[in-house]
Amino acid sequence: MQKLNKLTRGIVVLSLLAFVGVVGCSDSETVETGPTLVTLTIGVETPTVDLDAGMDSYMPCQGCHGAMGQGNTAPALNAFTPTSQISIGGVPDTLTFSRLQDKIELEMPPGSETSCEGTCAINVAGYIYCEWNSALVTSGCPAAP
Ligand code: HEC
Repeated sequence: MQKLNKLTRGIVVLSLLAFVGVVGCSDSETVETGPTLVTLTIGVETPTVDLDAGMDSYMPCQGCHGAMGQGNTAPALNAFTPTSQISIGGVPDTLTFSRLQDKIELEMPPGSETSCEGTCAINVAGYIYCEWNSALVTSGCPAAP
């Protein structure tokens, strides 16, 4: 086997350094910035939500409720009005943020009801309001791009 001469060794070292440099750069570009919290005003309620997390948590809902909340095998979630009703345990009542949160927490998705509770249900409810029903939100939703 041939011994590496100084030049070859130099090139090997330089390419290793370049490789580390590239990896280092791409690492710093993928640093997470953490949750972006916004406080919404919906009627008398002022929930604080993470809309990005809500968007992610809405993924499993898409099959039944549609990617745009337009409905599919399940009701649409993109046409709330001030008089919309929502049923929990079969009992209908006026839709509010906390009622939407409870519906998700207690009854959605059917068959996997414990998969989105607490903060998850709050964030998804915020996403549903800001993304498709922002007319009912007095303040807090990001302006449409
Ligand atoms: C397997 C299909 C399915 C999945 C997945 C599912 N849902 Fe539903 N959802 C339904 C059906 C069916 C109804 C209507 C019956 C009822 O109200 O329970 C409903 C009702 C609702 C309602 C009440 C709508 C209204 O107008 O009364 C909300 C809000 C809702 N779902 C949110 C969600 C969210 C958020 C997710 C994801 C975390 C989700 N659902 C996942 C089937 C589904």
